[in-house]
Amino acid sequence: MNAALDFVHKFVPGSSERTLLLLHGTGGDESDLIPLGQDIDPTAALLSPRGKVLENGMPRFFRRLAEGVFDEEDLIHRTQELADFVAAASTHYQFDPKRVMAVGYSNGANIAVSLLLLRPETLNAAILFRSMVPLVPKQLPDLARVQILIAAGKHDPIASAANTQRLVALLQQSGAKVSARFADAAHELTDEDIETARQWLEKANP
Ligand code: MLT
Repeated sequence: MNAALDFVHKFVPGSSERTLLLLHGTGGDESDLIPLGQDIDPTAALLSPRGKVLENGMPRFFRRLAEGVFDEEDLIHRTQELADFVAAASTHYQFDPKRVMAVGYSNGANIAVSLLLLRPETLNAAILFRSMVPLVPKQLPDLARVQILIAAGKHDPIASAANTQRLVALLQQSGAKVSARFADAAHELTDEDIETARQWLEKANP
């Protein structure tokens, strides 16, 4: 098997052209977001890798030094690794690399943002649940063809409203079409978030 396919992962074929790249939160794994992906788009193919970094036994997509303080060197390296994995998976499973939408939660949403900023060719859309600014690149990418939903929680102590607003501004400055919604919730996902994602997807149709 191709070396770049070297992430533990699940792939579920779909009946449409879209593939959802499912990116779990800290302590999750490749099975976690499969039901969420099927809820959001029952026709899409699903590609769900497990983060390679372990924090006290809990899988993550990149190292952090403390809550909200990220190891930027590791983040950059892991972002490149994940982008190479998605590219290799599109050849292996024969899905369209131009129709990949990230659906990430928390740590998974943060690496999805990093993919958008550092390897923008990987995604044409993203649904970011409880995300924050993981890094600010020296040069902003051109995200003019990318549609993004940011689903934040009004009472989220981890991804604060101020950080969410910074993220919206950063992605907009890069040219992306960004919608931001604030659920009456904290860091955990709620049914409202899933309904918001479904409605956004139906309208934006990336
Ligand atoms: C992160 O480390 O990416 C964020 O703090 C979210 C999380 O707790 O995983």
